[in-house]
Amino acid sequence: MKRNILIIAFAMILTMGIVITSCVSAKVADKNGSQLWAQNCMRCHNSPPSSAFTNTQWSVISSHMRQRAMLTEVESKKILEFLQGGD
Ligand code: HEC
Repeated sequence: MKRNILIIAFAMILTMGIVITSCVSAKVADKNGSQLWAQNCMRCHNSPPSSAFTNTQWSVISSHMRQRAMLTEVESKKILEFLQGGD
């Protein structure tokens, strides 16, 4: 009987761990362009608003700043879409 309780407790802890881990990684993947922009692009300078450059200029700037900010391809793409999309 005692053993069963131990096994159930262990299984519950394991399940909780899996649930918590998957929530955390989902949160990181869920970050949108504006959040990534705010967190990454202000580290070195005040980043100009999306209206400051044309879409073509943003695409050049983004590949340049992707290297400086050491962003992944997905992060950089989200930021670019945010900068090109909204004013
Ligand atoms: C590691 C520091 C660093 C990070 C992070 C960074 N930048 Fe920059 N950024 C610079 C430096 C240095 C310059 C100016 C010199 C240059 O162009 O390399 C610059 C210049 C710029 C310019 C001016 C370009 C122009 O032609 O006037 C823009 C716009 C810009 N960054 C946007 C961004 C955006 C958007 C991000 C986020 C994806 C970002 N930066 C992240 C360092 C950084």
